[in-house]
Amino acid sequence: MEIVKQMLLLLLCFPCHGMGTTAGSGTFNVKDFGARANGVSDDSKPFLAAWDAACKSSGKAKILVPSGTYLLNPVKFSGPCRDVQTLEFMLQARPHILQGTLKATTDLNKFGNGQGWVQFGRVDGLTVTGGGTFDGQGAVSWPYNKCPKEKNCKVLPTSVKFVNTNNTIVKDITSLNSKFFHMALLGCQNFKGSGITITAPATSPNTDGIHLEGNTGVTIASSKIGTGDDCVSIGHGNSFVTISGITCGPGHGISVGSLGRYKDEEDVQNIVVRDSRLIGTMNGVRVKTWANSPVKTSAINITFENLVMRDVGNPIIIDQTYCPYAKCDNSASSKVKLSDVRFRNIRGTTTSPVAVTLKCSKGMPCEKLSFHDVNFQHAGPGNISSTCLNVKAESSGTNNPLPCQ
Ligand SMILES: *[C@@H]1O[C@H](CO)[C@@H](O)[C@H](O)[C@H]1NC(C)=O
Ligand SMILES: *[C@@H]1O[C@H](CO)[C@@H](O)[C@H](O)[C@H]1NC(C)=O
Ligand SMILES: *[C@@H]1O[C@H](CO)[C@@H](O)[C@H](O)[C@H]1NC(C)=O
Repeated sequence: MEIVKQMLLLLLCFPCHGMGTTAGSGTFNVKDFGARANGVSDDSKPFLAAWDAACKSSGKAKILVPSGTYLLNPVKFSGPCRDVQTLEFMLQARPHILQGTLKATTDLNKFGNGQGWVQFGRVDGLTVTGGGTFDGQGAVSWPYNKCPKEKNCKVLPTSVKFVNTNNTIVKDITSLNSKFFHMALLGCQNFKGSGITITAPATSPNTDGIHLEGNTGVTIASSKIGTGDDCVSIGHGNSFVTISGITCGPGHGISVGSLGRYKDEEDVQNIVVRDSRLIGTMNGVRVKTWANSPVKTSAINITFENLVMRDVGNPIIIDQTYCPYAKCDNSASSKVKLSDVRFRNIRGTTTSPVAVTLKCSKGMPCEKLSFHDVNFQHAGPGNISSTCLNVKAESSGTNNPLPCQ
């Protein structure tokens, strides 16, 4: 069967020989399309031309970005690529030298409203790999970000966006100093991320590591994320998401949410966050929903397990009156129903005495919340405690603090 498949591939790929590429069949080197790699002149057009050619080819296509620094304006790499079976976007790096770097323009006027920097859209079977770096050059734009304080703020560009892609692999790449989020996955099916390194200073605003919205079937594994906001944020409309092997910190921890802010939001279900470490983060694992949600939604079947935390501010927190601003309208309680949320085998040290905070919605109390072997110690002197609102937690094994009974 496998042999037949390979022969078929050979046959399918036979016409791609001699398609004007230099590095062999199916390889599209951005330099052959005019990329200068001097880090100064805009290489967007050659990149788009290489993508176009690869997308129009058939069989297995590879876009090669050799070592070097490429300045890019916002670019959209879009499919569908009908005859392409797999498309590799290879940011080549020499071993141990950070090269193959894409550098974002620092001119915010180049970005449309809500536009990301590098966007991959409507493509099936894409792999982004090679050890290279997406450098968002965010530091100069961070002072213009008013979103942590103002509701009607101008949102800065996300560095790398995947929109409506299927069967995507992102492996061994680095994202550095995004202007806003580092990576966003929107409406994707079957996405596998691993070996991802994400780095921005603890003080950089809204530089979430990986933000998910409306995806089905996402795994993010073996990655190191340190930012100024959530390492991973799992927003509305996600199902079957597994986050594992993450080292998170600095940052605001790993969160489900925030949920219940907008009218068009959909349910969240079947989420697992496991086998990860959080070090020096503001929060550990968190579920956050806004009060006054415009529609009723639910977040069910969420498991947090096998986590180790060191010097974390709020190790476990459910907050259904989430408000990042000085003041929010909390006149109505959250209409996001939380149920089947499990915390299992979690331990470490907390810098605040309240290690477990469960603030559930008054109108829709949390249901089936359970704790098993969750143990914290205070990083300072004194005992630790839990606070609870509108919830009864089930517990088994040994737990410290004892969650609200
Ligand atoms: C992804 O899968 C969905 C559902 O199977 C399909 O409707 C959509 O067209 C696919 N998108 C691409 C880019 O292949
Ligand atoms: C809960 O989510 C897990 C992980 O996605 C899944 O394997 C399991 O089947 C789900 N359980 C239910 C009852 O849906
Ligand atoms: C701390 O917890 C221990 C064990 O539960 C208890 O004996 C002790 O009185 C507590 N100390 C304070 C200051 O609450």
